[in-house]
Amino acid sequence: MLDIQKIRADFPILSQKVNGKPLVYFDNGATSQKPQVVIDAIEKYYSEYNANIHRGVHTLSQLATDAYEIARNTIQYHINAKYNHEIIFTSGTTFGINLVAHGFASIIKSGDEVMISSLEHHSNIVPWQFLCEKTGAKLVVIPMNEKGELVVSEFDNLLSEKTKIVAVNHISNALGTINPIEYIIKKAHEKGAAVLIDGAQATPHLKPDVQALDCDFYVFSGHKICGPTGVGVLYGKEEWLRKLPPYQGGGEMIAEVTFEKTTYADLPHKFEAGTPNIEGGIVLGTAIDYMNSIGFDAIASYENELLAYGTKRLKEIEGLTIYGTSENKASVISFNIDGIHPYDIGTIIDKLGIAVRTGHHCAQPIMQYFNIPGTIRASFAFYNTKEEIDIFVEAVKKAQQMLS
Ligand code: ALA
Repeated sequence: MLDIQKIRADFPILSQKVNGKPLVYFDNGATSQKPQVVIDAIEKYYSEYNANIHRGVHTLSQLATDAYEIARNTIQYHINAKYNHEIIFTSGTTFGINLVAHGFASIIKSGDEVMISSLEHHSNIVPWQFLCEKTGAKLVVIPMNEKGELVVSEFDNLLSEKTKIVAVNHISNALGTINPIEYIIKKAHEKGAAVLIDGAQATPHLKPDVQALDCDFYVFSGHKICGPTGVGVLYGKEEWLRKLPPYQGGGEMIAEVTFEKTTYADLPHKFEAGTPNIEGGIVLGTAIDYMNSIGFDAIASYENELLAYGTKRLKEIEGLTIYGTSENKASVISFNIDGIHPYDIGTIIDKLGIAVRTGHHCAQPIMQYFNIPGTIRASFAFYNTKEEIDIFVEAVKKAQQMLS
């Protein structure tokens, strides 16, 4: 059992008022709020040991380097990677996917296939389109059904020896569907395809075990798991990271540079050109420690309660349609109300202190499937409460009355 009031006290922003009303923050799919321990760690870094890393012999540089590398180890243990050099710091999920898609240009050729799914965020679509345009490979898309689930039999049919990489999300940001990635990874490997998992929306709710999953790449962002923005992680199996070319050239990623030839640094530095987000990397470690101190099993079971309660309460509203009705769902509820634009509901409930996301959620193909311009998306975190859901449902009812 989580002590929610104690947890809420860790997050200073949650006691704020917005537009004169107590904040109800249900936009966790977009970004999470930060506990005091994370805010303190940012301040401590800048006030006590800010220095560049891997470069200086001086004390502050060594302190910052040690803290950064300790954070890398924290991430390694958190996702159960085999080696710490399989953890590449990035600026976020988008960067990680672009890095891998860019690297695959040297691996795939015209006639090969790249498979994604109809449930992807734009960041797991566009980089693969770039790759296909560059190489002449074909983009193949796993279809979805009306519950917002991937059609696994279609995946089986589409998969072939031509498939070189499958890139799918672990959890859909727009609908909350939890995808059958274990099955996808196993089947893709049987055909010799690599698999990248976009874990941006999964890592706030569960602790991935990359060795048990056996995925080749797993990418996620720090800011969705109570960490700072501008930092993320690309996990890659050592053999794949050795095979892929560097993404960006610059300092730190080299072994030796002459005007004739440059040799590259070993992993993980080969993919970490330039001065990284040092504070972000260090504090991502703090955020992961914080979330583990709460416990992912407890987080998942409490968020499931919020999901069930929120779904039941929203269904009271006449004319309301929920998109994404899989039994296998994370704590995200996307919905619309007949005859009302999602943006209008979002604007009115904001005046009542409630933060949700409205629009296409960077997943336009999902909206095209349902033939809607967008949805209202409430995404819950472990620090939300059923009382907040009650306030939210009453606010939506009020907005509906005002707009009808
Ligand atoms: N990808 C983030 C979301 O789903 C920003 O809102």
